[in-house]
Amino acid sequence: MSFSLSINGGQRIVKSSEPGETLLEYVRSIGFTGAKEGCAEGECGACSVLWIEEKDENSRLRAIPSCLVPLAAAANREIYTVDALADQGRLCQAQRAIVEEGGSQCGYCTPGFVVSLFAAQSDRKDGSAALEALSGNLCRCTGYRPIRAAAQRLPLLGEDHFLIRRLASPPPRLGPLSWSSGSERFLRPTRLETLWEMAARSPEGRWAAGMTDLSVERNLRFQRSPCWISLEGIPELRRFRDGAQGIEIGAGLSLRELEERLGEIRNPPPGLQEWFPHFASPLIRNRASLGGNLATASPVGDAAPLLLVLDARLVLLSREESREVSLSAFFLGYRKTALRPGELIVSIRIPKPYPSIVRFYKVAKRQSDDITIVSLGAALDLGPARRVRLLRLAFGGVADRPLRLKAAEEALMDQPWELPAIERARLVLQESLSPIDDHRGSAAYRLAVAQNLLEKFHWQTRFLPN
Ligand SMILES: Cc1cc2nc3c(=O)[nH]c(=O)nc-3n(C[C@H](O)[C@H](O)[C@H](O)COP(=O)(O)OP(=O)(O)OC[C@H]3O[C@@H](n4cnc5c(N)ncnc54)[C@H](O)[C@@H]3O)c2cc1C
Ligand code: FES
Ligand code: FES
Repeated sequence: MSFSLSINGGQRIVKSSEPGETLLEYVRSIGFTGAKEGCAEGECGACSVLWIEEKDENSRLRAIPSCLVPLAAAANREIYTVDALADQGRLCQAQRAIVEEGGSQCGYCTPGFVVSLFAAQSDRKDGSAALEALSGNLCRCTGYRPIRAAAQRLPLLGEDHFLIRRLASPPPRLGPLSWSSGSERFLRPTRLETLWEMAARSPEGRWAAGMTDLSVERNLRFQRSPCWISLEGIPELRRFRDGAQGIEIGAGLSLRELEERLGEIRNPPPGLQEWFPHFASPLIRNRASLGGNLATASPVGDAAPLLLVLDARLVLLSREESREVSLSAFFLGYRKTALRPGELIVSIRIPKPYPSIVRFYKVAKRQSDDITIVSLGAALDLGPARRVRLLRLAFGGVADRPLRLKAAEEALMDQPWELPAIERARLVLQESLSPIDDHRGSAAYRLAVAQNLLEKFHWQTRFLPN
């Protein structure tokens, strides 16, 4: 049993690996020690590497946290580490800018910064746009001023770099995989039929998408599943359709792909484009999927509040049947969902017409790349005399699951969208919410934040045309 992958232009055959071995550990073990392990949980970006993904007929580069990629999940991939970015002995522009601006002291984080900047440049971003790519990279000793200066002076990447020339041809095909390492197996079917056969033969198997959640469990809590069944090769989970009735989003698309697809259509659901920067970092968004986020049913997951107010429905599929459930009926309790054994989320449907005003607010300790304490998704349509014609409010971080707050919605229906009505709704929140109380926020704090977010939504939309 073996698989191949390409690292820095050289083909490698993996015949055996340590149980739990990650792509990061592998590239370092074969001498590409530019990528470093800082946190092993996707938070610091020191382990960033580039891999090639499909873009139309050609390819694109993605910076990904290699600590969150089990080695088998990199099978058939084409990967580049920082060690390969100098072209014919000349430092690439990102490396040169960091050197010249004094953006590196101990150098531990530097390869990660360079990889993120290079990926941004390969997306035709320069200067301040490239800077945004760095929100998942941490530096402990240099300080960010010189790193920011390095990013801000970056020009568009020249077409003559060997990696940019590489993007003119397609990426390698992922292909099916069946791999064992110690007591762990990793299966990657490329057709639904094979997926069901594999799942029937391995009832202990767990679905794996971008593995940003699962790899943290593996790396830090040493949780092993006897069998991972990867969904990355299944085309049905990667569809994206914008039709007259609504939009359908493949549950396995990475958030980055989704953001790009939404950018290509004329009338995307409101609120979604503004939501992406609230979610983790670009590195994580390059891997994380909507399906994975909803399936975890985390009370502070960021997709649920927004999708709840967009009235999203989930298409669930098992070998026996396909069914559709509303997202509000999907969350049953703390990390409990309506998924039956052997069932998976294929897609998320958002019906049209969309509400005219949609917002997402997230309160966390940091502005980017942090776990939500309280979040609010809100959708609003106003009728004549600016009375509320449609209002949906969904909160994260105030209960054992993400939830719509129908009592507050009802209290505001047909009311003028004015402060007195909001004051009454604040009281309804007080009576109907019993927030969780933990180290991230006391129940009283969470309640106050939830009330204030509702008020903020009102102030921000008070004068908007409907
Ligand atoms: C550094 C870091 C920052 C993060 N920041 C945020 C954040 O800001 N907001 C936030 O909400 N989350 C955040 N997360 C959590 C995580 O990235 C998301 O939950 C992500 O969307 C999970 O998607 P995935 O594809 O990686 O799922 P995976 O890790 O592959 O899977 C997660 C779970 O979902 C199941 N699953 C996956 N796909 C399907 C499917 N199609 N059908 C049924 N079950 C499925 C898996 O079996 C598993 O139980 C962060 C994680 C990290 C490591
Ligand atoms: S080691 Fe920190 S993100 Fe991978
Ligand atoms: S240069 Fe030392 S951590 Fe960034």
